[in-house]
Amino acid sequence: MIGSIKLIYGEKEYLLPLVEGSEGEKAIDISKLRQETGLITLDTGYANTGSCASSITFMDGEKGVLRYRGIPVEQLAEKSTFKETAYLLINGKLPKQKELTDFSILLNDNSLVHEDMRAFYENYPRSSHPMGILSSMVNALRSFYPALDDLEEEINMTVTRLLSKVRTLAAMSYKISRGHKVVYPRPDLTYCANFLNMMFDSPVQPYEIDPDVVKALNVFWILHADHEQNCSTTAVRVVGSARVNLYAAISAGIAALWGPLHGGANQAVIEMLTDIADNKNMKRVIERAKDKNDPFRLMGFGHRVYKTFDPRMKIMKNMCDTLLEKSKFSDPLLEIAIELEQIALNDDYFIEHNLYPNVDFYSGIVLRAIGIPTNMFTVMFAIGRLPGWIAQWKESIDDPNWKLCRPRQIYTGPNDTRYVSIEER
Ligand code: CMC
Repeated sequence: MIGSIKLIYGEKEYLLPLVEGSEGEKAIDISKLRQETGLITLDTGYANTGSCASSITFMDGEKGVLRYRGIPVEQLAEKSTFKETAYLLINGKLPKQKELTDFSILLNDNSLVHEDMRAFYENYPRSSHPMGILSSMVNALRSFYPALDDLEEEINMTVTRLLSKVRTLAAMSYKISRGHKVVYPRPDLTYCANFLNMMFDSPVQPYEIDPDVVKALNVFWILHADHEQNCSTTAVRVVGSARVNLYAAISAGIAALWGPLHGGANQAVIEMLTDIADNKNMKRVIERAKDKNDPFRLMGFGHRVYKTFDPRMKIMKNMCDTLLEKSKFSDPLLEIAIELEQIALNDDYFIEHNLYPNVDFYSGIVLRAIGIPTNMFTVMFAIGRLPGWIAQWKESIDDPNWKLCRPRQIYTGPNDTRYVSIEER
């Protein structure tokens, strides 16, 4: 304990202990508050609530810092691969060569999806959103892979299956939605190259694997790999706290990520930029974003934690420039995005509200350059976030102090009221 805070309530004084994290951030431990005082805390949207202690990811929203297991995301984006970063997040350390090789073998061995699952895809309406499909497919994996008796083996196998099969499920969904033949994973390809090949290879047009595109995808997924207690991760932890299986907890995370204020923002940004390109209405879009009576927000702008800049956005913007320059793929939406960013950054409303572009502002342009269709953008985010969700879930179930998540409320409804029979109403 590093001290306490005094609470005076009624005639009494209470001492609430302070706790400190390894980066010096402090919190008031209120775990005995209700028991001792009868009070609860009220924090809508949990903006001031620490829901757990975690050793996985550190963010400093004022300085624009993001580290996984202590390693700055900039270094991982430059030097690591998504597979290695996934290992780091889940196992807490960078793998030695043999560990990485064994991990790759396991991922390859588990990359196929049960053929019976194809029937599900074929029966979804063609217009279904891929995030809805992915969420239910991941949940359905439990039925195909029932729990093993040995708990440790069960967890390891589930983690490996999820990491490996999620790529196959996502690519299958795309192929089947287009009415095309499914492409199977290949043992000779790396994690990212394999996914690209399953997405884009076709019997009439073999897919040429471009190392720059593979690098871009690795960086894209590394940047999304974890982000401490965000909405979808909290969903995974909350659902997981009921001790459901990991497939179900991840499925809940995918559902949460789908929302346009969270992972769905990458799709919403491209839709907004396309609207500006089609209707030449940039000024109107900015005005709408500033209008208190209009629910519209500038998509890809603002963040609950980052209040100066989002470090992921800088790397994403550089990746965007490199990829477009190299591929000679000119995207008219990039120019619009740059102009919109400049207008917003110089506008008093956005300055006063500390609103800066977030990771999603440029990520859609990177995905477009790779060839990913817009409705699959959030699926790409989900594949990237999977190691983080798994690491956070593992940490929560290993924590001896972890409890069923069950917040309280301040009730504001009617007081004790008599039931009125239907004839009297
Ligand atoms: N455009 C216009 N105004 C905004 C925006 C925006 N993008 N974001 C926040 N504001 C305003 C908001 O209207 C409010 O104004 P006021 O105080 O005058 O009422 C103020 O800023 C604070 O908003 P808030 O909703 O209380 O802030 P928050 O910290 O809860 O919001 C956010 C975080 C990400 C939900 C929000 O910034 C937003 O909706 N952004 C657009 C969606 C988006 O890009 N989401 C992706 C987030 S990054 C990827 C991820 O990690 O999921």
